[in-house]
Amino acid sequence: MIKMISGFSKLTKEEKINWLAENYLNNSNTITTIKQYWNDDEKLQQLHDDFIENTISNFYLPLGVAPNFLINGEAYAIPMVTEESSVVAAASLVAKFWSTKGGFKTTVLGTTKIGQVHFMFAGDKVALENYFNKKKTALFAATTFITRNMKKRGGGILAINLFDKTDKLENYYQLHITFETKDSMGANFINSCLEAIAAEFRNNEIEIVMSILSNYIPSCLVRAEVSCKIEELGVENPQKFAEKFQQAVKIAEIEPYRAVTHNKGIMNGVDAVVLATGNDFRAVEAGVHSYAACSGSYTSLSHCSIDNGVFKFWLELPLALGTVGGITALHPLAKLSLEMLQKPSAKELMQIIAAAGLAQNFAALKALTTKGIQHGHMKMHLQNILNQLGATQTEKEKITTFFEGKTVSHAAVVSKFEEINSI
Ligand code: MEV
Repeated sequence: MIKMISGFSKLTKEEKINWLAENYLNNSNTITTIKQYWNDDEKLQQLHDDFIENTISNFYLPLGVAPNFLINGEAYAIPMVTEESSVVAAASLVAKFWSTKGGFKTTVLGTTKIGQVHFMFAGDKVALENYFNKKKTALFAATTFITRNMKKRGGGILAINLFDKTDKLENYYQLHITFETKDSMGANFINSCLEAIAAEFRNNEIEIVMSILSNYIPSCLVRAEVSCKIEELGVENPQKFAEKFQQAVKIAEIEPYRAVTHNKGIMNGVDAVVLATGNDFRAVEAGVHSYAACSGSYTSLSHCSIDNGVFKFWLELPLALGTVGGITALHPLAKLSLEMLQKPSAKELMQIIAAAGLAQNFAALKALTTKGIQHGHMKMHLQNILNQLGATQTEKEKITTFFEGKTVSHAAVVSKFEEINSI
């Protein structure tokens, strides 16, 4: 029977593990597995323990590097954290290819973010507007103790507006507040400002429901683009390739089932760099997919044109990122990743991540419209199975040669592995 517990958080790490082992993990090796991932350096382990609550161990993901990204004339080696095979290889190949064609051209189109104070007011709308207009200076003033440092860095609150939403929900209004948070992602800053504003704004007739930032950030936007002459596309029949590639993009523009997978491919690149740099991938995912649906129909984030013999491929992404604050400086590997990227500003990181997303999308569409996606995946899939089986280098080479041009299934690899070992 599954056991419940009160006061779990008060137990020591060791006690938590023992309780779990007794109640939920029936294999005695599990405690060894949990502890195997502890860091020998106690200070470092404590740092990781303190990131969240009820920590029992560390969960490793590989940190890979995709070199040869040329972005606005600057060379980058991009750190990527992902569990998905082929992602880093694809990014590296595509980066190298486009580096010989001028590389990625990126532009930040906007950097503002939104926070809202949601409230209910049943009285006269004109009276509310008058109250808001009179209060506006005080609302800004209520945040000076929070915004002082941000203002020094050129950020802060850009606008506070009152929005009437009563046509959608009875008595519902909002304060819609625009922020510039410079190099920090700004979640804590925005939420603290919102709560201070709400406290200043409330009165007997105004019932504050909640104060929270929005992860929908259509005005915090970056664009990345690659282009070259069709004959430079480096494939056998470049005109046919370009046309088929464009068709694949157009399908994603009009067909939501395809668009979601198409955009997932973009996020393979985006999330990997977001994670490596210690940024909030849930916020980025929420922002990106809501932006993909902002026309009312979910669509492709990337686009392609063929004009006068020139192939152009680009995307626009909303990205809320930080290069200071959060765990960017606390997590040693996030810090290292940012160093690898030459300590970028948040705006620079937006551009690097957009390029990684576009590279990933290019790789996926190239594979899908030519050899098919399984071709590359199968190689990595095979290596993963061989690693699981504990194959030696010689066994790996033999089995890899055997599976060349054949379909890789788990059962087939196990059977070949057993056959080799029975000889
Ligand atoms: C797999 O992780 C990503 C792809 O499905 C993306 C796509 O279909 O464009 C290959």
